[in-house]
Amino acid sequence: MSTRSRKILVTSALPYANGPIHLGHLLEYIQTDIWVAFQKLRNVDCLYVCADDAHGTAIMLKAQENGITPEEQIANVKAEHERDFAEFSVRFDHYYSTHSPENRDLSSLIFERNKAAGYIIEKEITQLYDPDKGMFLADRFVRGTCPKCKSEDQYGDNCEVCGATYSPADLIKPYSALSGATPVEKQVTQLFFDLPRFENMLRSWTRSGALQTEVANKLAEWLDGGLQPWDISREAPYFGFEIPGYPGKYFYVWLDAPIGYMASFQKLCEQNNLNFDDYWGRDSEAELYHFIGKDIINFHGLFWPAMLDGAGFRKPTAIYSHGFVTVNGAKMSKSRGTFIKARTYLDHLDAEYLRYYFAAKLTSRVDDFDLNLDDFVQRVNSDLVGKVVQIASRTANFVNKFGGRLSDDVDNSLLIVELQNAASGIAEMYEGREFGRAMREIMSLADHVNQYVQERAPWTLSKKEDSEQEVLEVCTTALNAFRLLVLYLKPVLPKFAAKAEAFLNIEPLVWADAQSILLNHSINKFEPLMQRIESDQVAGLLDASKDTHQANEPVTEKSKEKSAAKPEADDTITIDDFLKVKLRVARVAKASHVEGADKLLQLTLDVGNGETRNVFAGIKSKYAPEDIEGKLVVLVANLAPRKMKFGLSEGMVLAAGPGGEDIFLLSPDSGAEPGMEVR
Ligand code: 2FM
Ligand code: ZN
Repeated sequence: MSTRSRKILVTSALPYANGPIHLGHLLEYIQTDIWVAFQKLRNVDCLYVCADDAHGTAIMLKAQENGITPEEQIANVKAEHERDFAEFSVRFDHYYSTHSPENRDLSSLIFERNKAAGYIIEKEITQLYDPDKGMFLADRFVRGTCPKCKSEDQYGDNCEVCGATYSPADLIKPYSALSGATPVEKQVTQLFFDLPRFENMLRSWTRSGALQTEVANKLAEWLDGGLQPWDISREAPYFGFEIPGYPGKYFYVWLDAPIGYMASFQKLCEQNNLNFDDYWGRDSEAELYHFIGKDIINFHGLFWPAMLDGAGFRKPTAIYSHGFVTVNGAKMSKSRGTFIKARTYLDHLDAEYLRYYFAAKLTSRVDDFDLNLDDFVQRVNSDLVGKVVQIASRTANFVNKFGGRLSDDVDNSLLIVELQNAASGIAEMYEGREFGRAMREIMSLADHVNQYVQERAPWTLSKKEDSEQEVLEVCTTALNAFRLLVLYLKPVLPKFAAKAEAFLNIEPLVWADAQSILLNHSINKFEPLMQRIESDQVAGLLDASKDTHQANEPVTEKSKEKSAAKPEADDTITIDDFLKVKLRVARVAKASHVEGADKLLQLTLDVGNGETRNVFAGIKSKYAPEDIEGKLVVLVANLAPRKMKFGLSEGMVLAAGPGGEDIFLLSPDSGAEPGMEVR
């Protein structure tokens, strides 16, 4: 495909307008921005749009909590988001809000077209209503006791203890998470999008190359499990768009959110005189890419293409999903200070460090991404400062000293050709979202250049008599190599590239410049282009991110169709949580192998007072049944019973230490007795 004729529209997922941008979000925006920036450097017609996701109950409640209107709430957050994005060099061609007239019109149009085609159905359903708040409760706002395992305080759509999924009406002793009131059941007619009608289309589209294989496989599970009609309406009060022809009913936020991609683009079309249908019409030849997180693949891989298809629009060319961000190997945590907001990061560190680290480890796959802070410091310092900047810092001063002008020939043209020849491979890696590979290739080129500089040692050479021309040619070689490395890094490090361009005294680099070379050209005085990261900066960042109040992540409107949806909230527990865990001494009355289980032993535990418990424990690799019969263990006594393939497990046995002899069981002469409390 010729690059000149390509027309590309790119989006990132729309952030909710009820909370700040954090590092978990930034992975995606930075990934997308790098890809788009690369296309633009190649002179491809590529546009990048996004918007705040402004609707839904969570945002309405957040505004109430802040004592402002939803409109004020979303305007404040949008301004914050845009500031953060700008400082991380996430360069949208247009950033909008889903609460816009364009989105209202497009949502109505898509709804009406689907309705006219018979894809909207009405169904009467039972929903829980909070009589104190005067509103229907989304699943996430109902809590109660799990109908299966009887664990208390579970969400309205699934149990975090036994994993059961159910409807909020099935909960035992349900209560409203908003008011604590007992919800009442009400019959209400809702509108549903008839997703099952799109099954054939989706089966072929999801295997058309539009999705990463692992995503297509995941969606195949949904398709095989049977698609269900999708509930797209919500009752007032709701912050969103009222559905045309259905007063008091509103589009569910997930209906109008992806349409927000179109709406943001439509506004851009008005501003820049572009043709909307060239991109969204059924016969569009433009490429359309959505970058998203793996938690929302069902919305983008099932509902969205079906809605578009039903309304006569084109479907996405591809959906690129990434994994979740962890910090130092664990979920981001407020108490550990690793729940890092974009703003807090910017208060301590340069955005480009993070852009580089993300790029250095990103692949085209859906794997989770670990931001290891020690590795982060080490990589940025050794690659960017120690390899790339060093080339210029060790050579520029000689040019400055000898008149500030590059020579009219290079000392080592083979080295320059090697770097120039790398351009097409690096371009392929950027195109294929293999940014980590691209960074490794660029750093290996930087190593070659440093080797060359080290060998030619201008600092020694310059001490020789009449060496000025030779030194200039060596430094001209090094600075041309530096210029090429800057170009290859430019999609990732736009600010660094701008500073380097100013130093080299050149026009902004574009990809085609890889084939040219800078000779007989005046450069500017060298100023340090990038500072090393000091470890106290990272310590300061963690400290500033620590939240001693343990505030939760904003509640988002995630319902059970959002399978992997867990807000990246804190995973620490309070002392009160810990005190709920009842630890008891128990005696292993009987231990036996479990047929068909590699890791489990079945234990019959004497827990005192004549009571016994059946527990399946994953300690088979460390113990033979006869090793532990008669031994004392610590039992989590109030763990909800768990139905396993082999039977019901009524608790959990605690063991610590490296295993084998060293797993700590209580010694029989410790004085412990079954039933004793442990803490
Ligand atoms: O999960 C989320 O954060 C949503 N706000 C993403 C919406 S993306 C698109 F569909 F609008
Ligand atoms: Zn349960």
